[in-house]
Amino acid sequence: MSKFLIHGGNKLFGELNITAAKNSYLPILAACVLCEDEIILHNYPNYTDAQSMCEILLTLGASIKQSAGDISVDAASLFSWRIESDLACQVRSSIFMLGALLGRFKKARVAYPGGCEIGARPIDIHLSGFKKLGVKVEERHGYIFCNAEKMHSGTVLLEFPSVGATESLMMASVLLPGETRLLNAAKEPEIVDLQNFLVKMGAKIRGAGSGEIVIEGVKKLHGCEFTPIADRIIAGTYMIATAMCGGEVLLKGVNAEHLRALIDKLDKTACVISAKNDKIKVTSDGKPNALGKIETSVYPGFPTDLQAQILALSSISKGSSMIVENVFECRFKHVPELIKMGADIYIKDRVAFVRGVEKLYGASVSGMELRGTASLILAGLVAEGYTTVLNAKHVDRGYKNIEKDLASLGADIKRIDD
Ligand code: UD1
Repeated sequence: MSKFLIHGGNKLFGELNITAAKNSYLPILAACVLCEDEIILHNYPNYTDAQSMCEILLTLGASIKQSAGDISVDAASLFSWRIESDLACQVRSSIFMLGALLGRFKKARVAYPGGCEIGARPIDIHLSGFKKLGVKVEERHGYIFCNAEKMHSGTVLLEFPSVGATESLMMASVLLPGETRLLNAAKEPEIVDLQNFLVKMGAKIRGAGSGEIVIEGVKKLHGCEFTPIADRIIAGTYMIATAMCGGEVLLKGVNAEHLRALIDKLDKTACVISAKNDKIKVTSDGKPNALGKIETSVYPGFPTDLQAQILALSSISKGSSMIVENVFECRFKHVPELIKMGADIYIKDRVAFVRGVEKLYGASVSGMELRGTASLILAGLVAEGYTTVLNAKHVDRGYKNIEKDLASLGADIKRIDD
């Protein structure tokens, strides 16, 4: 079990290239099964979640090659439409495979993903969307069986703009005769990226990003090359790290529009942010002002995936902040650990009331999930003395060598493998 050892107090200076978005890569990898030609994806990030998704594709019969930062997926000889529970548990997003396998085989069996570290994460919206399009869904012994022999195009109104459900339904509909409309669809940049990828494969889809996605079924998709977008959450994490530590950091290869909600908030902390082309520069004296009220919501609102990190910033900012987690019901597991480091945070239901303290102190803290672990690392970067962040593996799900990135900016952080 590896851990991070951090000595806090260093300012951050330098430049970083932002790697590809996990939340783009995962559905795009799943969508590769929709065609029988080779797909080449650039900037393969090698996060552990992406590795798990590749493992799923391999067990289904795809062949995968990796070279110089690219990955090629050839699903010509895909033979299975069943994902076993041990694999499905490794990466919750294997649920995307349901839509992709339905598109390819007209049937699929996926293990029920169950709960996860940040809430129950039901999949009722995915399933009711499939049912609306004529898919027969049966849930038995922890597995979901879907039969799409009678699947037809139609209009699906999503009860909530779920990212995963929107992506599953897009994948299930691209090869369906007729026109399918997804209303109240998620608008996240990763949805637009999936649309762009599917269009490159020959699909006819429009509207991603607007809340109404229209899919005209085509008979066949073909191979292509594609570069998924940069990870706005990784970029956001490093922007918050700079705001907390002080210094000047240039992030490259990132779309500032995808981070508008964070930039608007960070502007209030007195750090200076400038964005030009695909670069964002953050300059900070390391003494952030409090943020007031932040509420997570669907895009373009403040992302739930940056809530833990902004909470770490609020814990050392001048004044009080209130952070409301509207998207997931159980996403404050990092708070008791931040409190161990001296943070003054009180939780009531989905609201964290934070009174900024002058200093955090190094402690041994445990990461419980991906973004929460990132927030403990950020807290360690500003804490007095040494912080040990246990369960480093959580952060590897969505960051590639976070410690190397931060050390390259001047942070004193290293990974220790037990
Ligand atoms: C995706 C992202 C995740 C991000 C989240 C919200 C990926 C791989 N993961 O997760 O990083 O935090 O979007 O931006 O892209 N819900 C239901 N029923 C459903 C589906 C969702 O009730 O069928 C609820 C969830 O429990 C949650 C909310 O809707 O409370 C948002 O979930 P959703 O948008 O589906 O997130 P994910 O796709 O799981």
